[in-house]
Amino acid sequence: MFGTKIKAQFPIFQTHPNLVYLDNAATTQKPKMVIDGITNFYQKENANIHRGIYDLAAQTSAKYEKVRTKVADFIGANASENIVYTSGTTAAINLVASSFLAPRLSEGDEVLISMMEHHANLIPWQMVCKAKGASLRVIPINTDGSLDMDAYKQALGPTTKMVAITHISNTLGTINPVAEMIALAHQQDIPVLIDGAQSTAHYPIDVTTLDADFFTFSGHKIFGPTGIGILYGKQAILEKMAPTQYGGDMIRSVSFEETSFAPSPQRFEAGTTNIAGVIGLGYAIDFLNQLDTPAIGTYLKMLGAYAEEQLSAIEGLSIVGTAENKTGIISFVIQDIHPHDIASFLGAANIAIRAGNHCTQPLMKHLGLPATSRASLSIYNTKKDIDLLVLAIKETIDFFVI
Ligand SMILES: Cc1ncc(COP(=O)(O)O)c(C=O)c1O
Repeated sequence: MFGTKIKAQFPIFQTHPNLVYLDNAATTQKPKMVIDGITNFYQKENANIHRGIYDLAAQTSAKYEKVRTKVADFIGANASENIVYTSGTTAAINLVASSFLAPRLSEGDEVLISMMEHHANLIPWQMVCKAKGASLRVIPINTDGSLDMDAYKQALGPTTKMVAITHISNTLGTINPVAEMIALAHQQDIPVLIDGAQSTAHYPIDVTTLDADFFTFSGHKIFGPTGIGILYGKQAILEKMAPTQYGGDMIRSVSFEETSFAPSPQRFEAGTTNIAGVIGLGYAIDFLNQLDTPAIGTYLKMLGAYAEEQLSAIEGLSIVGTAENKTGIISFVIQDIHPHDIASFLGAANIAIRAGNHCTQPLMKHLGLPATSRASLSIYNTKKDIDLLVLAIKETIDFFVI
């Protein structure tokens, strides 16, 4: 089902037949049905939503709201009211930090994050903590890149006002035990946000079973368009949160003296939102729903393990992040060659990997590395892609190290 067979559904690989695309943690490629769905929307259905009463507007509004239900079903939410459209994971986390946490945070309080957070799940909390005299407490990692769960258990306490944790590390590939972490936090009534930017394309998500208070992800990392993301929130929590942006489509009534807001999720969606993005996300979910989603996780773990085995056999190459529970996101360094040199050499061979700090500068500092190279896998990658990567790395080493 995966690999070459599914690759045929992604037009970019017809445009670039020799492309070995291994930068899926940055963004995934788009299947034809998503591209066609967006084109079709603009050619045949375009209208603004929630405003006009003519046919096109009514149909587009209905489709836009149908995607909300689709997203809710896709991540196991109880109702479409739990689903807020945002521009991405980053916007979703910022919304929770400023609307949910800020009014509840006081001097001396703590927000728990981990050493492996993407800047998107770090800076919003850091800014709120600074504004309120609270502190950001960082759960350390073990040498293999897994989370130090003993430190996590010890850190939870009466001053903890929020836990924000990534489901899968975009740098290390570590899969965090989020169900256990949520259960532990809830024993002390501490709300938890799960950053699902990387996990949503890898695993079936069930926010209700997880009992997450918030869950966030981005459309572009699950085969959908850029500029659209999701904030899931428990109903009772969303209802108590105030909007952070004001304007059209988020109000109940407005006068020059007073405004009352629409219920959630509408109150968080001021102005004309990314309608085509929502429609495209709907097609991305249709695409994923046709697949055996539990099998995606198995495939990516298998391919990731194969990649690690092949890469670690290369002399001078070290894998960064070797947690037992990890998926197909593989960071590595090669003695005496800068990651940017590796990435540009590989780029010339049509192999797209990422080099840099992966928006995890504090993690890099902790690891004592300026950067790593990262190959991140998706459903259209094959063992042959890995073999080509390995070959090109060997050629890179031959070129730089004589
Ligand atoms: C773990 C993680 N969190 C958050 C983000 C931010 O996602 P976006 O840029 O789509 O808002 C990323 C993006 O790479 C990520 O990998």
